[in-house]
Amino acid sequence: MNSLENMKIRVLIKEDLDAIVEIDEKILGENRRNYWEKKLELMNNKSSNISLIAEVEEKVVGFILGDVSGWEFGVPETIGWIDTIGIDPTYQKKGLATALAHELIKNLKALGVKTIYTLVSWNDWDLLQFFHAMGFTRGDMINLELKI
Ligand SMILES: CC(C)(COP(=O)(O)OP(=O)(O)OC[C@H]1O[C@@H](n2cnc3c(N)ncnc32)[C@H](O)[C@@H]1OP(=O)(O)O)[C@@H](O)C(=O)NCCC(=O)NCCS
Repeated sequence: MNSLENMKIRVLIKEDLDAIVEIDEKILGENRRNYWEKKLELMNNKSSNISLIAEVEEKVVGFILGDVSGWEFGVPETIGWIDTIGIDPTYQKKGLATALAHELIKNLKALGVKTIYTLVSWNDWDLLQFFHAMGFTRGDMINLELKI
């Protein structure tokens, strides 16, 4: 079966919580239900929900969380964010993340977004490779941290 051909993309809703928690646990090996509950609740309270779900035969197999905002970090334009992307390991390497990201980018473009930001840990090679393959490059901002 070709997962990509059978894939449907739709807007993420709060009822996707269980499926997202399950995929996240498959990827990271820990159950982060509380974290996702809070995250989806925050997302739900926003007027712009642009996050997406990928389904194959009505089963949730991936998600991409995005956001749109302006004037943050002194950036004077409408900017888009890719917050998190996750594909069920069984369905990885089939082009699903690429399809999800293209759809999100198309939707952000329609909202007037010209630049999309994302943050990736230096150790997440799959994500770094994926964003590289999508055409993302190193931006001008640098990440600062203070251990306390
Ligand atoms: C990174 C991730 C989103 C890619 O999803 P995917 O559906 O497998 O990606 P695609 O099939 O669309 O891959 C597109 C390109 O990205 C790159 N890529 C994707 N996964 C890769 C990997 N594991 N290693 C190296 N390159 C990778 C490749 O260049 C690939 O193109 P190719 O297949 O022609 O080589 C997926 O592996 C994932 O969910 N990883 C975990 C991410 C995570 O930790 N999220 C936070 C917790 S939910």
